[in-house]
Amino acid sequence: MARGAPRSPDRDSLEAWGKAVGAALPRPAIIALEGDLGVGKTTLAKALCAGIGVPNLAAVTSPTFSLVQQYEAPRGPVVHVDLYRLKSDAELDALGWDELMASAAVLLVEWPERALHTLPHDVITITLSHDATDPMRRVLRVVSPTRR
Ligand SMILES: Nc1ncnc2c1ncn2[C@@H]1O[C@H](COP(=O)(O)OP(=O)(O)OP(=O)(O)O)[C@@H](O)[C@H]1O
Ligand SMILES: [Mg+2]
Repeated sequence: MARGAPRSPDRDSLEAWGKAVGAALPRPAIIALEGDLGVGKTTLAKALCAGIGVPNLAAVTSPTFSLVQQYEAPRGPVVHVDLYRLKSDAELDALGWDELMASAAVLLVEWPERALHTLPHDVITITLSHDATDPMRRVLRVVSPTRR
């Protein structure tokens, strides 16, 4: 997965890569999407969902306010969370975090830093950062359990 990743993709190539990754994901899978505000985490989440086979891609939006969104997909539910506004572990409990992690075929986590201590060791971490030389590109880094 990391081997085939473009190093500094524009939006189209990030989406194409995300779609290919989504299509190849094992189940269950947890993907931590790291990166600054507005860098492209939701954009990538949507591309992953396209590859996973989520039929209603229009539903894949930013869960900044709801914190959690769930999408039905052929091989089980995709749970998409955005923990930016999370303030405490108690809020995680209120979300039913353990149940969400257990029930998701694929769990996509934006702002995983807020719940790092609760994530299993085999999480796939994808980090996006701005490319200082080109505003249309993002620097992409992937750490998957087999390549740690
Ligand atoms: N190479 C690129 N990859 C991804 N997004 C890009 C790229 N170039 C430009 N963009 C734009 O950057 C924006 C990224 O927004 P997005 O909502 O995906 O970010 P985010 O990281 O989820 O933000 P937040 O931290 O608020 O959750 C979109 O408007 C997208 O079109
Ligand atoms: Mg987002």
